[in-house]
Amino acid sequence: MSNIAPYPSSDAAAGFLDALRALRRDSGPLPGLAPDSYARDHAAFERLSDQRGLIAEHLAARLAAMGDGPISVLSVGCGDGSLDVRLAAGLVERLSGEPVRYVGIDPWPGSVELFNARMAALTTAELSVDAHVASFGDAPVDETFDVVLFVHSMYYVADVGATLRSALDLLRPGGELWVAVAPSAALNALVGVLAPPLEGHRQWFSADVEKAFVDGGIAVDDVATLAALVDLASAGDEVLDFAVQARLTPELYGTVRAYLDAVSVPGTDGRLRVPHPVDVFAATRR
Ligand SMILES: C[S@@+](CC[C@H](N)C(=O)[O-])C[C@H]1O[C@@H](n2cnc3c(N)ncnc32)[C@H](O)[C@@H]1O
Repeated sequence: MSNIAPYPSSDAAAGFLDALRALRRDSGPLPGLAPDSYARDHAAFERLSDQRGLIAEHLAARLAAMGDGPISVLSVGCGDGSLDVRLAAGLVERLSGEPVRYVGIDPWPGSVELFNARMAALTTAELSVDAHVASFGDAPVDETFDVVLFVHSMYYVADVGATLRSALDLLRPGGELWVAVAPSAALNALVGVLAPPLEGHRQWFSADVEKAFVDGGIAVDDVATLAALVDLASAGDEVLDFAVQARLTPELYGTVRAYLDAVSVPGTDGRLRVPHPVDVFAATRR
């Protein structure tokens, strides 16, 4: 798993987190993000980050390592399909003529509509696409896949262990499960302090997913950590809400921005950015 220094990384950052805890003490949970604004603010967040490109390259390399034959992929929590359409386009181009099956699942109808529209723009006879508006546990999937992937969706499931087992059941023997999930590092320390609980549980991070693999007796083939950076100094309030996974109240923004500043590091252009690494777990259906 990611070999990242524990956060907060400085006394100043720790002080800002304590100040946020103090501001929230004796208050109820902040409101969560509504599905329509979640998808819009997520897209704005991604525009300030290099992470999606890193994930796309990493997963495309993994797909290439699976060979040149027909392939089927299930993307759980596909969102608006921005990432999946890149992966599907790469498969169609590389496998020239071989069948590619690509299925998305997401509980938010607006996102599934966008997923379908993006995939429809890749019109080729070899590509067959389906999407289900459903939570993973309720999706009517009656086929098996070469790859099942969760990109930033494992945070939200009720039970990580049960989800991993169900995902493995949807793979053909030898098929691969890939789970991309953030560690609870600098950025997500804010989620821990500010995000409301989700249907009775907190958001799950890498350590929770690793534990669920171990507890479930599921061998992990490898874990790759992709070191991404996001430019939150230029982010609007809605993007900060997405980053902390809560609708912030006006008195919180100043301290959140001060915390983000304190945990920022210089990017290659010298501009300060917030580290937001992602761990990609890979396991094979035996
Ligand atoms: C951060 S977005 C990631 C979207 C996409 N995979 C990407 O990387 O751009 C998380 C997605 O997971 C979806 N989601 C939340 N709970 C889910 C569940 N129980 N089953 C499937 N998807 C879920 C959300 O609706 C959202 O679209």
